[in-house]
Amino acid sequence: MVSNSPLSDPHEFSYSTADFNKVVQLIYQRAGIRLNDSKQQMVYSRLARRLRALNMTSFSQYLTQLEKDADSEEWQQFTNSLTTNLTSFFRESYHFDMLAQQMKKSAAKPFRIWCSAASTGEEPYSLAMTAIEAYQSNHPNVEIVASDLDTQVLATGATGIYTLDKLEKLSMERKRAFFLKGKGSDSGKVRAKKILRELLEFQQINLLNDSWPLQGRFDAIFCRNVMIYFDRPTQKVILEKMGHLLKPEGHLYVGHSENLQFLSDYYASCGKTTYRLTEHAISQWGHR
Ligand SMILES: C[S@@+](CC[C@H](N)C(=O)[O-])C[C@H]1O[C@@H](n2cnc3c(N)ncnc32)[C@H](O)[C@@H]1O
Repeated sequence: MVSNSPLSDPHEFSYSTADFNKVVQLIYQRAGIRLNDSKQQMVYSRLARRLRALNMTSFSQYLTQLEKDADSEEWQQFTNSLTTNLTSFFRESYHFDMLAQQMKKSAAKPFRIWCSAASTGEEPYSLAMTAIEAYQSNHPNVEIVASDLDTQVLATGATGIYTLDKLEKLSMERKRAFFLKGKGSDSGKVRAKKILRELLEFQQINLLNDSWPLQGRFDAIFCRNVMIYFDRPTQKVILEKMGHLLKPEGHLYVGHSENLQFLSDYYASCGKTTYRLTEHAISQWGHR
């Protein structure tokens, strides 16, 4: 690829290979996200919205401005624009069945879950539904921390408001038990009921950060479909840190195309893309 060659003309904003490479470097530094060359057009269309909002005419102008101020609020917009937030209720549903089994066997009070790439909230609300069903109580003794790097998706999750089509695959029983239908100007929308919302706490956590604002250990950590965006060394650092936050009998749930074979000293498979700590990890990391 020739640096500084114009990309996919005609474009509303001037955008060169050097601009794309700069974006690749910056999002890797900020979020650990690796973007390969096939993402050039995606980067253009996602960031073009920011240039439009800021009345800028070229990517180089935008990127120069961004880099001038390490604390600029635009960094969050830049990051939000480049994350991929695909998710759905009960995605990879076998994990929710396994979690229900884990809850039924566990004596932990509260049973604590960290959903570490929660996106727009469908995943943590599915965890909350699972808890209510497993404990057969509308107020189970369960705490769910739902975090993400992207502040925009977190804001959606915190409202618990979704368009009706998002519930398409949910049984009628779950729709009735857990969601309220909007009326008037809110028709076509649903809101998660308070019994779900009160189990969740949304907060921003960048998995790339050295320290995470979390207290205590968890019975379950969900880290699904986010590792795929990170390179191996970044995955290793994050997964080892997560191991310190898992209770000795806790489970780590990862996405369908992710596996922890490269960390077999620390994690052993205990079900489909589900892991527990090895005895070696438990003794080395001082769990007991
Ligand atoms: C494809 S979604 C997966 C959502 C959900 N876990 C699921 O499996 O349906 C990936 C999420 O990871 C988040 N993410 C990307 N980089 C991150 C980072 N460095 N720290 C925390 N979250 C990150 C994105 O904002 C996005 O919401």
